[in-house]
Amino acid sequence: MTSATRLAALLFACALASGGCDRKDDTATTAPVATGTTTATPAPTASAASASPDARVQQIFATRCAGCHGPKGKGDGPIAASLTPRPRDYSDAAWQKATTDDALKAVIAQGGAAVKKSPMMPPSPDLAADPAALAAMVTLVRSFGAR
Ligand code: HEC
Repeated sequence: MTSATRLAALLFACALASGGCDRKDDTATTAPVATGTTTATPAPTASAASASPDARVQQIFATRCAGCHGPKGKGDGPIAASLTPRPRDYSDAAWQKATTDDALKAVIAQGGAAVKKSPMMPPSPDLAADPAALAAMVTLVRSFGAR
């Protein structure tokens, strides 16, 4: 196996783990508030879990997808250089026009291998199980083409 394959496997494992972690943090909301001294820090992760699909999905893209796809979806994440084929530039207007939302949903949910694209593109079972988040992820990918 190539080092790129190992890297992707590792990354995928991380993606699954973090998907598990940022799912729900109910304990965080019940625990530390009583003293009244911690009121300044209740925001980021706890609210991300209960936030709108858009906010959650931005968080997921930044942590799970940007390593390959780049923070703006330009296909220039740090891992991209070691990939063949490389992830495309989402700002490519011709591609945005040619692809369908269903095709985007399929590759994001099931991964590249399931749709005859690169197996380096990992599936996201948590998004597959969450239609609102999956749709929001497609919207996010589309938004990278709108500039
Ligand atoms: C380990 C690197 C890697 C990660 C992480 C990754 N991708 Fe990809 N992705 C790829 C590669 C490589 C391709 C190109 C597949 C091809 O063209 O055969 C791709 C293709 C895609 C495509 C299809 C583009 C097209 O050509 O139609 C979409 C959409 C996509 N990725 C979204 C995502 C999203 C959303 C995430 C995070 C949930 C993600 N990817 C995470 C590597 C990655």
